[in-house]
Amino acid sequence: MDIHEHLLRPAIEKFKAEFGAEPERLFLSPGRINIIGEHVDYSDGFVLPAAIDRYICFAVRKTPQTNRCTIIAKDLGETYTFDITMKVKPVQQMWMNYMLGVLSQLQKPENQFCGLEIVLSSTIPMGAGLSSSAALECGFAYLLNELFDLQIPKKEIAVIGQKSEHAFAGVQCGIMDQFASVFGKENKVIMLDCHSLDYQYFDADLRGYSLLLFDSCVKHSHLTSGYNERRKDVEHGKKILWKNFPEIKKFRDFTLAMLDQVKEEMGAVSYKRCLYLLKEIKRVELAAKAISEGNIEYMGRLLTETHDGLSTEFEVSCKELDFLVENVLQQEGVLGARIMGGGFGGCSINLIRENKAEEVIKAISEKYLENFNIRMKVYHVKISDGIKEYTNEYII
Ligand code: GLA
Repeated sequence: MDIHEHLLRPAIEKFKAEFGAEPERLFLSPGRINIIGEHVDYSDGFVLPAAIDRYICFAVRKTPQTNRCTIIAKDLGETYTFDITMKVKPVQQMWMNYMLGVLSQLQKPENQFCGLEIVLSSTIPMGAGLSSSAALECGFAYLLNELFDLQIPKKEIAVIGQKSEHAFAGVQCGIMDQFASVFGKENKVIMLDCHSLDYQYFDADLRGYSLLLFDSCVKHSHLTSGYNERRKDVEHGKKILWKNFPEIKKFRDFTLAMLDQVKEEMGAVSYKRCLYLLKEIKRVELAAKAISEGNIEYMGRLLTETHDGLSTEFEVSCKELDFLVENVLQQEGVLGARIMGGGFGGCSINLIRENKAEEVIKAISEKYLENFNIRMKVYHVKISDGIKEYTNEYII
């Protein structure tokens, strides 16, 4: 997608129309895909995400003579104005909460802010599982850090974004989305250890295959989906495991045999959730090895195993996504597919041979339309850099 045409120009034009001046700076904050490692980021697991070429653009100007901060969400047609030096609390406009939650953590005596004018424009579809909220949180933290020289390390920016989501959006998310948005790198997937926050990059060389996203157009919000409930099921399971095996340091070090020993005490639901998590954490390690060895077929099989686990053990899929996955797997040239992200709707991620992609898309779109009367959307995404300032020349 041409970011100049679809993102920068509209944001700059809106800025000029609303504020009567050019923006001083432009920041781009990306969404993410996740190759594998779902729901394990809050359970000491490994994940394999990557930032993509879909962004929220922040067009910004400082207004040092005031404390007024005006933020325009161009695509939503909404504006929010507040005093940046006053204590903030959650508001009705959900999109603002992601940013206010960030600001609340940075409002300290040593951080001196002044007024800001901001236009937001986005090419990350909302509610599609591509982490537009993490892009908003971390993009805002990043720009405050840059504009006011706050000296916040990059990892801290991701953590601030996550905390904002907990405190101001009410979603007890893990760290994966924020980390990917901040640390993304062109053509690399990130292998993140969510226990230590150590990470390494792997080449995303898929050898003639590509990762395509099929948007089921079933929208979800993790505030109202079962996300927080799944976390509770998992926390209960962990409590029982640690009570019985206090010597274990990280969740991922529990064995399936240990889990089986406490099955009765834990109860069927938490058992299923933990079983999924322990298997998923192992799958990520296998997938990282497969990708580094160029064993794309095996990677595809792992993706499909993850879908089965998310559907039957973690129970975060839905009939539309199950349908998309089941049907795409019957097509020639497809190595694997699964629901991606937190679940309950959104996109599937599909590993498809490049020269078969068009055929597969056509077949699946038709079937989906026939069965659900929904037009599936397809996103061809490129693995891209994390949050950055856009410094190239731009011509309006
Ligand atoms: C959402 C959360 C992440 C992660 C995924 C599932 O995207 O924000 O922290 O838990 O779901 O892997």
